[in-house]
Amino acid sequence: MTYDHYHSTLTSAPTLETIYQHRSIRRFTDEPLTDTEREAIWQAGRAASSSSFMQSVHIIRVTDADKRTALSELAAQQKYVRTAPEFWVFCIDYAKHRLAYPEAQVDWTEATLIGAVDAGIMAQNCLLAAESIGLGGVYIGALRNGIEEAAKILALPEYTVPLFGMCLGHPDQQPLYRPRLPLNTLVSENRYRLIEADTLAQYNQILADYYRVRSNLDLDWSRAVIDNFGKPVRPQVLPFLHKQGLAKR
Ligand SMILES: Cc1cc2nc3c(=O)[nH]c(=O)nc-3n(C[C@H](O)[C@H](O)[C@H](O)COP(=O)(O)O)c2cc1C
Repeated sequence: MTYDHYHSTLTSAPTLETIYQHRSIRRFTDEPLTDTEREAIWQAGRAASSSSFMQSVHIIRVTDADKRTALSELAAQQKYVRTAPEFWVFCIDYAKHRLAYPEAQVDWTEATLIGAVDAGIMAQNCLLAAESIGLGGVYIGALRNGIEEAAKILALPEYTVPLFGMCLGHPDQQPLYRPRLPLNTLVSENRYRLIEADTLAQYNQILADYYRVRSNLDLDWSRAVIDNFGKPVRPQVLPFLHKQGLAKR
């Protein structure tokens, strides 16, 4: 697949401009994606790097209204899972490897990591491609709240996992930029360097301001960490992986 194929019908913004403009979009107009847009985005995903070229990802486009409603309910009632013009589920897929070689040892935890990394890379190619042609979207990790039910709804076989969803469409909002950790706390040279307590406190202040302005919320990054990791983190995931024949050793 080359860009020439879509060049006459799609205009794509430059890469860095697209990346720096990123905001998660959770409100969409009713305008559907065209077949060409959808295909161009999938082709972008298909072009992504893949660990050992194992291509251990499968994307399910969910168009059935009842399935969309059921997935929305199990994903923390997020309305846009039901209403976005497109909703796709990115799955780890080792069913095809077991078809190619029935004794394939896909039950190692490393295989699950490989699949999850590949799915993330493929999905981000899709999201960037979508954003570069004027669309917007958001990942839906909350799908894993009901990981087993999601797998049932999507008729997933053994050796597959519904990893996260993605809503896509034409943006009907212009969210504020969500301030990231400072660059010099994300990158270090030759050895790990932990963010300093003062820098963390400053960042908490920046995020507290952001949350207050954006949604009148009394929240900062450290408190978000407590909300996310101050309790068991989706304990249903590991037994589900085992049930699917994955992450057993
Ligand atoms: C794997 C993954 C799962 C996510 N799951 C959800 C989700 O279930 N619901 C949601 O509204 N946003 C979800 N997000 C979006 C993040 O909240 C968002 O990217 C982050 O807060 C930064 O905001 P920004 O993307 O607007 O810059 C997810 C993001 C990623 C990467």
